[in-house]
Amino acid sequence: MQAYRASLLRFDDAGQPLFDEDGLLVIGPDARGRQVVVAAGAWSALHASYAEVPVTHWPGRIIAPGFVDMHIHFPQTDIIGAPAEGLLPWLENYTFPAESRFVDAGHSAEVAEFFFDELMRNGVTTSLTFATSHPASVQAFFASAQRRQLRMISGKVLQDRHSPDGVRDDTEESLVETETLIRQWHNVDRLGYAITPRFAPTSTDAQLRGAGELAAKYPDTWIHSHVAENKDEVQWARELFPEARSYLDVYTGFGLMRERAVYAHCIHFDDADRQLMRETKTASAVSPTSNLFLGSGFFDFDGADRVGYRYGLASDVGGGTSFSPFTTMMAAYYAGREGQTKPGVSIAPSQLWWRHTGGAAQALGLGGVIGNLQPGCEGDFVVINPTATPLLARKTGLAQNLEELLFSLIVLGDDRLIERTMISQAQAT
Ligand code: GUN
Ligand code: ZN
Repeated sequence: MQAYRASLLRFDDAGQPLFDEDGLLVIGPDARGRQVVVAAGAWSALHASYAEVPVTHWPGRIIAPGFVDMHIHFPQTDIIGAPAEGLLPWLENYTFPAESRFVDAGHSAEVAEFFFDELMRNGVTTSLTFATSHPASVQAFFASAQRRQLRMISGKVLQDRHSPDGVRDDTEESLVETETLIRQWHNVDRLGYAITPRFAPTSTDAQLRGAGELAAKYPDTWIHSHVAENKDEVQWARELFPEARSYLDVYTGFGLMRERAVYAHCIHFDDADRQLMRETKTASAVSPTSNLFLGSGFFDFDGADRVGYRYGLASDVGGGTSFSPFTTMMAAYYAGREGQTKPGVSIAPSQLWWRHTGGAAQALGLGGVIGNLQPGCEGDFVVINPTATPLLARKTGLAQNLEELLFSLIVLGDDRLIERTMISQAQAT
């Protein structure tokens, strides 16, 4: 066992923050040998019970759960900041050409290594991740994540129409490759597979039907796609699937809405769509830096809360502009201002933080496993230095309460705040 003493941020199951100014986090092996949280709380209450356990003391630092990014594209690392009129020209001019290079295993491996280094520098310990349509990209991703002992989710992109040569796949072959990859990687160590139709407009009915059949056959895999991001995209989807009630409803028809199904964006929704999300336990990956950058619109946080469906925060790099959860939380605050119907300011700092940690984990069906530091959770955590810059030191020093402290970190923070990222290790047996 190993104990860590510093300020300690956790959440209860409802997402309310718990903060110990002088906290203790005790990590030790569970029955399977995986390092998990054994105890967490005030140092004064716990230290006598763990007197034999070696303690690392980080005075002035904050221990917090590793961040969970609900939607990111590892092959789009190099196209961050590619300007375009909107989603569809951005895909055609930048995204598809960049993704076509991932047919090459060497390129896939090089980008995967950079990507994981960048996630770690930013304190992101789990992501639900698009690869490309090339199995080589998925192999590179999982091989690197496995070496690093990370809890990571990804899958081969399915796109058998309305896609250029170089990224378009073949219907039958794409489904066979998906099943082969599920068998090779799903539930191996800390890895999980996501069945990943890019979005309805780039898949034939046959490919979507096949994806739904695999999702039924492997019910604890994830489903990962995009929906209702951009007005031109919504219009296109409606023309291609005129019989569906809405764009979202296309996915229901193919068996692609269930627990562990995650759709990025979900901006152009009505209440019937929101009800469908709730009834099917499907989750939204809210990607505000991407939505602001591509001019897609604003996620309706009030609408999601009113109907009560699952959602969490995501970077959507490379449509999104930053790997940093602090930048994403700040953008969510801005987006929450738009169309706000509830009184008061936008989203509370602790709630922004919850939606990027434990709340995101719950939306992924991984509540109690990651995204929190309650007993039993896997021991992925970050060590935050609130004095990382002169302005941060000055501002966090003035905080009167937890919400003010968290808001200072969100507004002023970036990768410099993350002093360490600690990953739960499997004990050698
Ligand atoms: N819709 C379909 N593909 C993509 C993508 O790569 N990024 C975003 N933001 N939206 C998409
Ligand atoms: Zn995306």
